[in-house]
Amino acid sequence: LVSSALSSTWYDDHISQRESNADENFKFPKNFLFGTASSAYQYEGAYLTDGKTLSNWDVFTSIPGKIADGSQAKVAVDHYHRYPEDLDLMEELGVNSYRLSLSWARILPKGRFGDVNMAGIDHYNIMINDIVKRGIEPFVTLTHYDIPQELEFRYQSWLNPQIREDFEHYAEICFRYFGDRVKFWATFNEPNVQVIMGYRKGTYPPSRCSKTFGNCTRGDSEIEPLVAAHNIIRSHLAAVNLYRTKFQEQQRGKIGIVMNTIWFEPVSDSLADRLAAERAQAFFFTWFLDPVVFGRYPREMQEILGKDLPEFTKDDLKSSKNGLDFIGINQYTSRYAKDCLHSACEPGQGGSRAEGFVNANALKDGLPLGEQTGVNWFTIYPQGMEEMLMYATKRYRNIPLYVTENGFGENSTGVMLNDYRRVKFMSNYLDALKRAMRKGADVRGYFTWSLLDNFEWISGYTIRFGMYHVDFDTQERTPRLSAFWYKNFIFQHRAQS
Ligand code: NOJ
Repeated sequence: LVSSALSSTWYDDHISQRESNADENFKFPKNFLFGTASSAYQYEGAYLTDGKTLSNWDVFTSIPGKIADGSQAKVAVDHYHRYPEDLDLMEELGVNSYRLSLSWARILPKGRFGDVNMAGIDHYNIMINDIVKRGIEPFVTLTHYDIPQELEFRYQSWLNPQIREDFEHYAEICFRYFGDRVKFWATFNEPNVQVIMGYRKGTYPPSRCSKTFGNCTRGDSEIEPLVAAHNIIRSHLAAVNLYRTKFQEQQRGKIGIVMNTIWFEPVSDSLADRLAAERAQAFFFTWFLDPVVFGRYPREMQEILGKDLPEFTKDDLKSSKNGLDFIGINQYTSRYAKDCLHSACEPGQGGSRAEGFVNANALKDGLPLGEQTGVNWFTIYPQGMEEMLMYATKRYRNIPLYVTENGFGENSTGVMLNDYRRVKFMSNYLDALKRAMRKGADVRGYFTWSLLDNFEWISGYTIRFGMYHVDFDTQERTPRLSAFWYKNFIFQHRAQS
């Protein structure tokens, strides 16, 4: 069924012709990574298996009302047990890399207050061996939102500066046990989303809210998001410093961070709106990267937040200016930015000092930026991929970039094997990625989110991102059109190099 859909008229009309035109002069470099991405909490399940203890997400999802469909990820897609089957699917697709994350609570169930869980280490050792054996490059994230609940319970995790010691300890164990085979490390996945959702909107653990944020009924503290972000940045720098001084020479890997990105398109050409777009990047993206690359927060944040912005000590900054080998770019969506500091704006999603000047609902000439999907944060705008890659390239001096996530979510309980909208999405975003590479962006990899349908955080299992459909009752995986399309895309582009 699916392969016949692939060769259907629809495919010829919409994708194949345009692709072959666009591809004529384009070659991906030989060692370009094509992969799929996942995370421990969203995939593994096995939530108390082999000595793992509760993570903050295990606890959070057990609170009624937090997750759209009331679900948890105790089993998720059972990747803990079924990873060999999932690696078979990756081999079938022809990917040469797999982005995954490790569960901190599996490796250090009580953080640095307890022992290393050797059963957790064994699990990842066996799995990493299997990945490598298949000629697939593991691309490993240390923290993809989930942390041992113990750290929340003992000292409020990211709000406490001492978490840096815990993170450094955890990183050291991962480098020591897995660094002989893992050559790509990301310290954090989307710390910007983690902080905004966890400490401003209050919708992710630990459910802390900032009063001036529009939809918050209770105000914990205005500066908590800044403190949590600060401690994440300090933790990143400590892990990088450790890797550089103790491991990198011998292990010869690279270390970076993965950021969620939104391309903010100024709603008009006015200087005020262009500055608003720049402020939006500061409060969303450069917030975490400027300190790591330049040793200070973005100027826009400093001007607006003044003394509320925490300061780095010399010790914190030991490895900054050299704090990244690459940036991971998760790119899905774009928004208009409109100046709301100097002129009246309809409130967008924001309402706080930080976001009040970005009006997410702004329309240009009465039109939205791109096609809206059923998923509320999701406007389709492929050009945003090119813009975002060029923005990072210019600001961070041609640093190597990996598109660590890009993909299409649908809000449905249906099977949707003929996911032509996902194919169109991936194809158009990849075209934009090629345009950025032609203009000089040093993009070295592309990972789709995701191989499989999985646990989509507060949306539970209601949003499906998989190139493979998963029946959550039987755990059966079935390829969608996009799986065949991606396989074909990789094959064509590999053949060229
Ligand atoms: C980014 C996150 O890293 C991932 O966990 C999530 O599932 C996807 N975006 C889709 O929302």
